[in-house]
Amino acid sequence: MRKPIIAGNWKMNKTPEEARELVAALVPAVKDADCDVVVCVPATDFAAVKEAAQGSNIHLGAQNVHFARSGAYTGELSADMLKACGVEYVVIGHSERRQYFGETDKTVNLRVRAAVEAGLIPIICVGELKDERESGYTDTIVEYQTLMALHGLTDEQIKNAVIAYEPVWAIGTGLTATDEQANETIGVIRKAVARKYGQEVADAVRVQYGGSMNPKNVKGLMAQPEIDGGLIGGASLKAPDFTQVVLYNK
Ligand code: PGA
Repeated sequence: MRKPIIAGNWKMNKTPEEARELVAALVPAVKDADCDVVVCVPATDFAAVKEAAQGSNIHLGAQNVHFARSGAYTGELSADMLKACGVEYVVIGHSERRQYFGETDKTVNLRVRAAVEAGLIPIICVGELKDERESGYTDTIVEYQTLMALHGLTDEQIKNAVIAYEPVWAIGTGLTATDEQANETIGVIRKAVARKYGQEVADAVRVQYGGSMNPKNVKGLMAQPEIDGGLIGGASLKAPDFTQVVLYNK
């Protein structure tokens, strides 16, 4: 059985002081969660979150990682640097990075490899644009993005990885994929992994849904058999909302 994983993606929000306040509120609130709980925060908040989450079940995540170990890459952070700050998870290939920062399937793959080699758990984002869904290309897009991202990883590394299916049209828009749409597309992703790496690997890899997931729709989405958790943007910025999402089964 796959253990569900709920991860907050704070994006470019929260100063260290605000981060400390939010995590301090979450620590007692989510302590009985049955899922893995992660907050993916700006690098400037790592120290504050690490300190505030100490001894709790809240794990620290980053929002990107560079593929080189070190060198002349102004503004970038290496996997070893993240590890040294206590980071355990890292979001890779978020649609905002693909859209605004020229991220490609090739660079996503390089980042994923660098992350797993350093012992970080990648949260790999895939998802179709609105017109791609409307033209009937959703399955083709998510299969391609997924297999490109996983290229070169061992079976064990894939089993430990997390994939986040995030239809781009549902991110930050208030539009959510229906429970059935999300379940079906995640099923497509899992089948693609099974075809390439075998059923055992596909059965182990956790696939989240992301895109306007919130306290109201979390129960329905999490009741779907293929959905192993969520990547939460807007609703992860307020302690009561994120708590309700994390405690979806309570
Ligand atoms: P949202 O963001 O929950 O605000 O739609 C999700 C994400 O971008 O990961």
